[in-house]
Order: sequence, then C-alpha cells, then structure tokens
Amino acid sequence: MSNDCINHEYYMRPSDRILALIRRIFHNNPEFRHDSFKHVARFAPVIPLMGGRPDLSNTLQRVVTFADGSNPLHFGCPIILAAGANKTALRICDYANVGFGGISVGTATRHVREGNTHRPRIGFVEKDRAIHNSMGLNNDGVEAVCRRVETQLEAAHKTHLCVGVSVAETPGLTDENEKLKDVVETFAIAYKVGDYVEINVSCPNTGENRVDLDTSFLEKIFTEITNYRNSQSYRKAVYAKLSPDMLECHLKTIMDMLVQKGVNGVIMGNTYPTAKVNELPVCVTFDELTPLRGDGNRGGMSGRPLYENMVKNVKFIRENYPQMSVMACGGIDHGFKIYDLIKLGVDAVQCYSVVAFRWMAAHAMRKELEEALMGDGYKTLADYDAAHPKL
Ligand SMILES: Cc1cc2nc3c(=O)[nH]c(=O)nc-3n(C[C@H](O)[C@H](O)[C@H](O)COP(=O)(O)O)c2cc1C
Repeated sequence: MSNDCINHEYYMRPSDRILALIRRIFHNNPEFRHDSFKHVARFAPVIPLMGGRPDLSNTLQRVVTFADGSNPLHFGCPIILAAGANKTALRICDYANVGFGGISVGTATRHVREGNTHRPRIGFVEKDRAIHNSMGLNNDGVEAVCRRVETQLEAAHKTHLCVGVSVAETPGLTDENEKLKDVVETFAIAYKVGDYVEINVSCPNTGENRVDLDTSFLEKIFTEITNYRNSQSYRKAVYAKLSPDMLECHLKTIMDMLVQKGVNGVIMGNTYPTAKVNELPVCVTFDELTPLRGDGNRGGMSGRPLYENMVKNVKFIRENYPQMSVMACGGIDHGFKIYDLIKLGVDAVQCYSVVAFRWMAAHAMRKELEEALMGDGYKTLADYDAAHPKL
C-alpha cells in the first residue's frame, strides 16, 4: 500500500485571486464571508463565466457498496461537501451547481442550538490557507433538518448528489442515560431520511470534552445505535467522524470498537484542536490566532495544514482495518490529492475550507482528478474501480 501523498500545490488562477480580494474586503466580517458560499452555490448557474451547473456525466461517478448489505451510496463524484457548510439542509441541490457529488448536512442535534455566543466564531488564516472555527454546533434541530432533507432528497439524487446527515450528542447534558437517549433519538430521526448517517463524535467546539475522548461512553453510544439499526427493516451506512489528533493507540481502541459494532466506515477527520496547532505544518502561531470564545479558546483548525497528518491516519486505518469504508477529510484542495487518496483505498473525500480559497473548488478538483485518471490510462473512475476491485 505504498503511496506518496504529496500536498500538491494548485495554480492560482485569476478567479482565485478575485476570491482572495473578496476575503480581504470582508475581513472584518468572517462569518458573513463564510456564509456567502451558499449564495455562490445558489446563483452559480446564472453568474456569467462561472460554469456553475451540475456535472451529470458519468466520468467520476462512484458507487460505494457495503459487505453488510447496507444500501449502496451513489456519488456523482467522490467529492463531498463536509458537515458544517450546510448546517440547515436548505437548498441542498445548489451544491451540485458548484461541483459536489455528495453533501453531509448538519451537524444536527436533538434540539435547536444557537451555538457559541462569542463573535467572531471563525477566523481565516491567509498564510496557511486555513480556517479556524468555534461555531459550537449551531443548528435548527434534527427534526427540522431531516424534514428538509426528506422533501429534497429525490431532487438531490437527480442532480447526482448523495445526501448524508451528520448528527451529534446535545452538549450540556450531564446524566449518562439522558445523553444516550438523546443521541439515539437524534440518530433514529436522521437514519430514516439520510442516504447515510455520520456521527460526529469529535467536535472540539462545544465547551465540553470531545465524545471520542471517553472511549467507554463512545462504546455505549455505538451499542445503542447498533441495537436500533438492527431493529430496522432496512439498513443504511453509518459513519463515525473522528478527530485527527489522536495517538495511534487511542485511534486503534476506537477503530476496534467501531468494527465490533458493525459501523460501516469513518470520516477522518474533523478540525484539529488549535491548542495543539504547533503539531501541524503551519506558519501561524497559537497566539496569532483570533480568540473565538470568551475563555480565549481558538477552536479547531481546518484547511491545507491538516493534509499530511490526515494521510498518516488514513494509511493507518486502511492498512489495519481494510473492511472499513473511509472518507478522507482535512486539507483536501487538489484533484491530484483525491487521486492519491483513491489509490490508498478511500471511498470518497470530504472538503470544506477549500471553497473559501479556490474559486469553484469542486469543479476545479474534478478536472484535476480526471486529468490524473487519464494520465494513468483510465477514462472514468468506474474504469479505475474495475481495474482495482475491492477485496
Ligand atoms: C466553519 C466550520 C464549521 C464546521 N462545522 C462542522 C460541523 O458542524 N460538523 C462537523 O462534523 N464538522 C464541522 N466542521 C469540520 C469540517 O467538516 C471538516 O471536517 C474540517 O474543516 C476539515 O476539512 P477541511 O480541511 O477540508 O476544511 C466545520 C469546519 C468549519 C471550518
């Protein structure tokens, strides 16, 4: 499984420079800058020269199947918009305009949450092409999110978008039974509508300890989820979204448990806690980052500096748990990186920060991925998959 995963550099096109200018103009309002992506996705088809339309060709289509009989996932391309970018699940199909082949909506919790009250909750780190955030799981509640998914799912599939729902435990609960009830109820609501469900056990921004730091509670969560899932007449894929900062022994404990519980796959990974930002190849120092909470916390780091560490984790999982489906996430901003990860055996990738730094990022990465496939003599991703069947 040797594969050199280089942190490929992309060519800065004039449109990327315009995007940099827009970021500079709105530097005093990072949350506005962040939210403007949804307007770009919506109006992309009518903005001249943007080329913002769904790509319905079969060149990059990917079907992910599961040995346990869970419903297969059909992605228009293996580039998914990661959780957090569309927390509300409004206007899901717009994200096909900007090139995505899948979207994880949410993260949703059992009830509406305002998230952290401090402002700003987001900071852009230009020199590292990174974003740090401490949104604190703001969302409209899982019922509202899933009602919206249900009404748009058919249309999303027509634009070749696969729709996952990201869910998490409600922060602030103290009683363990209450916590478990909360997670399972939230999961059950999402399980009815999503093509897949991802359980976010690694949010560093709730003011509480991350769930994946307490392995015994984590096991209880997945036991309950497994019991619920086994009681249903249909089976859908379940993913756990893990933190990228874990020591190998901790990751191993969690992976062993997830395999034992029959979880289909993992998303590696979430944002990287900024308290440990010096572990990443960054130019910025912790003190230079904007405080995002009243207590001075600077949230979690996303973007380009996460890439090498993410690849290390993905290699570990692929080598030791080949039965697990992997969605790679962290610093993916180039189609060549996606091809490298596909060669490592990942089923799809999830991206977030790149949309702030590359104009029409998913469309650009599609082109690069096609070029990489072509370079190795494959006309389509299906041709690549046929030549490399899953064991
Ligand atoms: C502003 C912001 C909000 C996020 N919100 C969520 C969230 O609600 N749930 C989640 O699982 N991940 C969330 N993430 C993490 C991303 O989904 C992704 O895991 C992370 O940013 C790494 O990918 P990237 O380097 O491509 O940005 C958020 C990230 C950012 C920057």
